[in-house]
Amino acid sequence: MRVRAAVLEATGDAAIIRELEVAEPRAGEVRVRMLASGVCHSDLHVRDGEWERPTPMVLGHEGAGVVEAVGPDVVSPRVGQLVALSWLIPCGSCRSCRRGHPWACPDSPSYRHRLLDGQVAFHDETGREVLSYCAIATMAEVSIVPAAAAIPLPDGTDPAVAALIGCCVTTGVGAVLKTAAVPAGSSVAVIGLGGVGLSCVMGAVVAGANRIVAIDRMAAKLDVARSMGATDTLLAGNDDAATIEALRDLTDGGPDFVFEAIGRVGTAELAIAALPLGGTAVLVGMTPLHDRASFAVYPFVDGSRRILGSNYGFAEPAIDFPRYAAWSIEGRLPVERLIDRRIGLDDLEDAFTAMRRGEYTRQVISFD
Ligand SMILES: NC(=O)c1ccc[n+]([C@@H]2O[C@H](COP(=O)([O-])OP(=O)(O)OC[C@H]3O[C@@H](n4cnc5c(N)ncnc54)[C@H](O)[C@@H]3O)[C@@H](O)[C@H]2O)c1
Ligand SMILES: [Zn+2]
Ligand SMILES: [Zn+2]
Repeated sequence: MRVRAAVLEATGDAAIIRELEVAEPRAGEVRVRMLASGVCHSDLHVRDGEWERPTPMVLGHEGAGVVEAVGPDVVSPRVGQLVALSWLIPCGSCRSCRRGHPWACPDSPSYRHRLLDGQVAFHDETGREVLSYCAIATMAEVSIVPAAAAIPLPDGTDPAVAALIGCCVTTGVGAVLKTAAVPAGSSVAVIGLGGVGLSCVMGAVVAGANRIVAIDRMAAKLDVARSMGATDTLLAGNDDAATIEALRDLTDGGPDFVFEAIGRVGTAELAIAALPLGGTAVLVGMTPLHDRASFAVYPFVDGSRRILGSNYGFAEPAIDFPRYAAWSIEGRLPVERLIDRRIGLDDLEDAFTAMRRGEYTRQVISFD
């Protein structure tokens, strides 16, 4: 079967939309006809060469679709089910997996960007192998994925919402509810209001945070954050000291929890510097691979402050995806409000350009 897909030939180059041959699902695999794929900044990090990844590779790791065919031994999911795709399948045997922390698995087969047995889902017209980002390659009309990555969602889940549950929603909501376990009545600040940061805002509302300060350098994003339950907003300029001072004024000396959802050294340092005594900085945004940050050690220790790293919102996808989908159907998580631009696969490079400028909260590719 030939399908259109967004292929990265080399990191740093533009993604090209081209036809590829897709394999049939074998044991442990399913074929998914993609309905929606979000454009996450992690795709842009790869596209721009900020993270080293193998190529050629089909991009996309935030997607949902309908199961069209299953391999011989597959029990779940079933043909016809709507599934959201997980970009991390734990290896099951490493130290993190043995401790019950699958989100911290460093040996995940997903990170090899191949199917579980090392085969690939796609070939080009010359017969060359094309890899699948995180083994799911959601920016393709059809993808072959490990059955374990395809999580069935409740009937009535909107496919675009399902796609976002595959990355930004799970990452942001989970960072608040699972990684940080923010207690009701806390004060929270979120720096960076893309799909991930706004999902932190949604999570803070569910947690019952008393004060939620949303921060971005784009004014339009502050309005979206307010509509989702942020109690206060700050327009960030270039002066970090001014942002910290304004944040302290709003939160009686600093927020109990600060979530960095951009992936910049400067704002990671700002998040730590803004903490009050006993406060917690949660780093969710991911910087270019080799960046380093610094902080003043003495007040950090003296004030019993904390820094937490949060990968994939400490996700257990088979439990968390259906839970977040149910909350979105109930209106507890207004996920659909994240989506402010629907595009086709051919608009991907334009979407990346807009994302570099900080435009749009979440752009979603629809496959019609
Ligand atoms: N930890 C994880 O498991 C995980 C999962 C998904 C994404 N991520 C990372 O999270 C980060 C955010 O992803 P996204 O898709 O929401 O990105 P995005 O580009 O959609 O959003 C980033 C936001 O930050 C704002 N911003 C940029 N510079 C700023 C500054 N100096 N001050 C204030 N605001 C600023 C932008 O205007 C934009 O609204 C990325 O680094 C991504 O790779 C991490
Ligand atoms: Zn992502
Ligand atoms: Zn593992």
